[in-house]
Amino acid sequence: MVRRLKERFEKKFDEEIRFFKGMMQGPKSVGAIVPTSSVTARKMASVINPQSGLPVLELGPGTGVITKAILARGVKPENLVSIEYSEDFYDHLTQDFPGVNFIHGDAFDLPNVLGSFADKTFDSVISAVPLLSFPMPARVRLLEDLLDRLPPGRPVVQITYGPVSPILAHPDRYQIQHFDFIVRNIPPAQLWIYRRG
Ligand SMILES: C[S@@+](CC[C@H](N)C(=O)[O-])C[C@H]1O[C@@H](n2cnc3c(N)ncnc32)[C@H](O)[C@@H]1O
Repeated sequence: MVRRLKERFEKKFDEEIRFFKGMMQGPKSVGAIVPTSSVTARKMASVINPQSGLPVLELGPGTGVITKAILARGVKPENLVSIEYSEDFYDHLTQDFPGVNFIHGDAFDLPNVLGSFADKTFDSVISAVPLLSFPMPARVRLLEDLLDRLPPGRPVVQITYGPVSPILAHPDRYQIQHFDFIVRNIPPAQLWIYRRG
């Protein structure tokens, strides 16, 4: 029991060190203070339909908290595609989650970074990329590119920390739903869902 607690503490501490190393590499691209809480990660992963048989796309996995929740939802590692910009995070993720299709690259450049997954239809998208660090036209372009890769009605879930949707409303093009406000996250997190049809 004490050993298990010690191991959990060491793992958590290790994740936070990694997070700060990621911050040092490019604070703008990390966009949060500490890793996402497991409560938030589970809530984001709850939108996945593991029975769809379609792969899931994750953006900005960082230390892997959300990756872990996606796998715990019943998604097979080979059915998860996850794009991470930081080389340091990417190296750790490939060690921590064998079998997951991690891609080292820029989520805003999907057609090029997705490689052999570029033509796939995904079940859903779980995104932790720090959208607020990017200009609005780039955010809208990314969202629409993501929605083009999902069946109508399936969600893109985005975590953010501001009070409003980080992506402008275009009711003729997609719907926006406030999904949750999670206090058990540092800082407290807002979850938004975007879908079509
Ligand atoms: C707020 S952190 C997510 C943290 C993660 N949920 C965790 O708890 O460790 C944002 C993540 O998005 C990554 N990121 C930032 N810009 C990106 C981009 N353009 N493409 C892919 N990943 C990006 C960062 O490197 C970082 O890992």
